[in-house]
Amino acid sequence: MLSYEMTGQGKPVVLLHAFPINSRMWAAQAKLFSREYQIVCPDLPGFGKSAVMKNTSMAAMAREVAAVLEHLKITGPVFLGGLSMGGYVAFEFLRQFPNRVGALGLFATRVKPDSDQARENRFKSIEAIQKFGLPPFTKKAIKSQLGPSTQQTHPELITDLLEIMNTTPVEGAVEALKAMASRNDSSDSLAGVKVPALIIAGEEDSICPADEMRAMHEQIPSSQFHVLPKSGHLVNLEQPELFNEKLGEFLRANGRK
Ligand code: MLT
Repeated sequence: MLSYEMTGQGKPVVLLHAFPINSRMWAAQAKLFSREYQIVCPDLPGFGKSAVMKNTSMAAMAREVAAVLEHLKITGPVFLGGLSMGGYVAFEFLRQFPNRVGALGLFATRVKPDSDQARENRFKSIEAIQKFGLPPFTKKAIKSQLGPSTQQTHPELITDLLEIMNTTPVEGAVEALKAMASRNDSSDSLAGVKVPALIIAGEEDSICPADEMRAMHEQIPSSQFHVLPKSGHLVNLEQPELFNEKLGEFLRANGRK
């Protein structure tokens, strides 16, 4: 079973992390929102304290998240939020367990699968990671994950994140890269999302640009959309106050309390 951090009591709020991070990226949200909610932050397979899963997929990761909820006896609908790779897993969870999602959080993520070019880049990254380990890869990746404003104003975030990212085992990163390269296109399911959705993009995100996320908002009937200024891809870490404000308002307004 996946390792997870759980704190607080109340309606369940499940937060899925980005690549190649782990549940620690939600520490500030877990601290704040555990005053009112049961916060569950799994380490996806191969990250944090969770074992590597060979030949995994976004769908298999979603099943692992469901198993954590079963273990915690959470059978009713949850708020399910995912950032980037976490969002890809959230779409798969929704596909497999629609009745177990009461509201959705889509943070700096996308519905489209990888382009041929993106897939090729993943396999180049795999080769590089297998040859040289994670640190040279993460050192480069962090520059596109954090927006220019954050890199300038909060350089300490670079060091903190690299420390977390570099704990990821090579095999964990490799399996996740392969799984992301072969992920499904979730575009067709957007109009069928019946639950309220909170969509948050970073103004300076070059990985999942705000315009692409706006298009997602336009297709999900009961969604709201926010672009966080001076934020790159890691919206909850780069603009924590604004992110928490939007998430808090959404959770209160959507009956998660
Ligand atoms: C992430 O932040 O999870 C990654 O940028 C996702 C990806 O590489 O597609």
